Amino acid sequence: MDRARVAILVSGRGSNMAALLYAARATDCPYEVALVTGDKPDAAGLAVAEAEKVPVKRLDSKALGKGYWEALQSALEAAAVDFIALAGFMKILPADFVARWSGQIVNIHPSLLPKYKGLHTHQTAIDNGDAKTGATVHVVTPEVDSGEILGQVEVAIMPGDNAESLEARVLIAEHQLYPKILAEYVSRPFDARWIEAKIDSLAGGFAEVGRKTSHGSPGWSVGAEKSGKLFAIIADRHHGEDAVGLLVKASGPDEMAGLIEAQPDVYYWPKYYGASGWLGIKLNRRDVDWDQVADWLERSWRACAPKRLARMMDIADEF
Ligand code: GAR
Repeated sequence: MDRARVAILVSGRGSNMAALLYAARATDCPYEVALVTGDKPDAAGLAVAEAEKVPVKRLDSKALGKGYWEALQSALEAAAVDFIALAGFMKILPADFVARWSGQIVNIHPSLLPKYKGLHTHQTAIDNGDAKTGATVHVVTPEVDSGEILGQVEVAIMPGDNAESLEARVLIAEHQLYPKILAEYVSRPFDARWIEAKIDSLAGGFAEVGRKTSHGSPGWSVGAEKSGKLFAIIADRHHGEDAVGLLVKASGPDEMAGLIEAQPDVYYWPKYYGASGWLGIKLNRRDVDWDQVADWLERSWRACAPKRLARMMDIADEF
């Protein structure tokens, strides 16, 4: 698996950035730090990254004004990053920037979200008499501190704790949590179980879909429980293949050969299954076009569905 290229954005000290960076030095870490940048050119974290010989781009959001987000976008593109990790980055991201990087930005926040979004999380937890607080790593969405929670760590609040003492302990917990969760997140596209869950949620959108196996591989069928016909199968590195592939019904060998020749990174001829008209779509890639996968699933569902169901879909399409 290629290591994912991650940009880390900091506004200050950068201790989480350092934790991510040192974790990336392990040879089995699935990400590498391709860039460290932020909004304040004199942020202490940038000097640490420079000392560690990581590419750094010093951007000044005050001086750049509205041009800041474009300059940031150019720096991210020039570094060819796959993911952005916010590590004490204190600027709110504009919606169009988040949309451009949808699902590729993660953040660490010093509370057990959804509790205590925003600032002063430690003082608020103490003032509320909470017994514990912690930190959360989540996907960034346009609404601040609200995206999918990827991982959390709890930290006890001790008698006599103040915001400063609590922050120091939560920070230790953050440094354990963030590299582990980022590593898991960037590895998702290669995880057959995650791929299966993703296909399951897409396939569940069609009528009369059930689960079946095909020679032990997970599959989806359409029609009545007993007579249901398989329309999608996951072949997880079947018979030594490299692909975790989705097998769908194509119109025949000519179409399959044409697609495989035109896009060999996307399509393949699956061993054994290919001969029965199953086309393989490689899913263990970073750049899967899930809309395209959804279209193939629908096509395959239609090809295998009993006539009455396919007719229902045709009628629905007319409206
Ligand atoms: C960390 O505690 C992080 O969770 C928090 O800022 C600190 C940055 O420290 N982030 C937020 O509050 C984001 N809303 P660091 O610069 O040493 O990593």
